[in-house]
Amino acid sequence: MLYPLIKKGIFALEPETAHDLAIKALHIAGHPLLNGVLKSLLACPKGTEKTVMGVKFKNPIGLAAGADKNGEAIDGFGAMGFGFIEVGTVTPLAQDGNAKPRQFRIIEAEGIINRNGFNNNGIDYLVENVKKARYQGTLGINIGKNKITPIEHGKDDYIFCLNKAYNYADYITINISSPNTPDLRSLQYGDALDDLLKGIKARQKILSEQYNKYVPIAVKIAPDLTEAELVQIADTLQRHKMDGVIATNTTISRDTVAGMTNSTEIGGLSGKPLQHKSTAIISRLQQELKGSIPIIGSGGIDGVQNAQEKIAAGAELLQVYSGLIYHGPALVKQLVQAIK
Ligand SMILES: Cc1cc2nc3c(=O)[nH]c(=O)nc-3n(C[C@H](O)[C@H](O)[C@H](O)COP(=O)(O)O)c2cc1C
Repeated sequence: MLYPLIKKGIFALEPETAHDLAIKALHIAGHPLLNGVLKSLLACPKGTEKTVMGVKFKNPIGLAAGADKNGEAIDGFGAMGFGFIEVGTVTPLAQDGNAKPRQFRIIEAEGIINRNGFNNNGIDYLVENVKKARYQGTLGINIGKNKITPIEHGKDDYIFCLNKAYNYADYITINISSPNTPDLRSLQYGDALDDLLKGIKARQKILSEQYNKYVPIAVKIAPDLTEAELVQIADTLQRHKMDGVIATNTTISRDTVAGMTNSTEIGGLSGKPLQHKSTAIISRLQQELKGSIPIIGSGGIDGVQNAQEKIAAGAELLQVYSGLIYHGPALVKQLVQAIK
């Protein structure tokens, strides 16, 4: 109701400026007094509780990674009714990311291209924010590697973040699928993936004994995979008994936006132009995994129908980001109401 008006103002600003402003506003909205008001204004129902990866989700609709990279607006986003919020991607050290501008709207297709490059304030800052949050839903922490870390030592960065995040997350996501960190996606293949997941599972075992709790770990994959790559990834995830898989991150393909304003910008494309591609990956992944590893669906969700398509394809939980920018918090309410 109110969002179409607010959207005009937001879209008059450069995308990252608008984003930073939204994070500031949602941080303020995290204050307990305002948070109650915002919650009752948005009036999102509780939704349908679900247990996935051994974790209870008060509803299956989540905020995708990248919206709240530093965990600064967890309670503000929480007021929208999300059953889970994934903060990050966070890296061991703070880093600036790529030069600005690095976010672009493709308005006619309801898409976004970003080449942020994991701009974040580092894992310690994020953990302090997570500790302060009052959000009652499920919290995921999405971890990555610093740009300056050579890819051969990427595993060390993931283990570093895993150690720091473990006690404060309900689940952890290993992001190896951002197109904006050089070579990152090479970790999705062959021996590199095998070695990374082996190290992560071994560390998870140590941490689960140390903290006397098991925190599940999901792997986030790209949509730009060949058939053979997808089959190999599914096999590797199963062999290492990963707890979940998030499909998908943004795409480097421009097939669905060719000729449109901003479509030639470098980076990952999200939103509606990614919708079918990510659903197809979920579907193919489900054929391979046969329910052995839960799938969290992400990519272009902007309404109940295409959210249902991702559930029908095999996703147990869903995440949104770009749809929230184009359609506002009413989208969360619609999805929470409809998706079981
Ligand atoms: C501006 C922007 C920044 C993003 N940053 C991250 C990130 O840091 N880590 C990550 O795993 N995914 C990141 N993503 C990808 C989203 O989490 C999501 O997987 C993807 O955008 C597809 O969902 P959507 O179409 O609903 O946006 C980002 C997406 C956008 C639009």
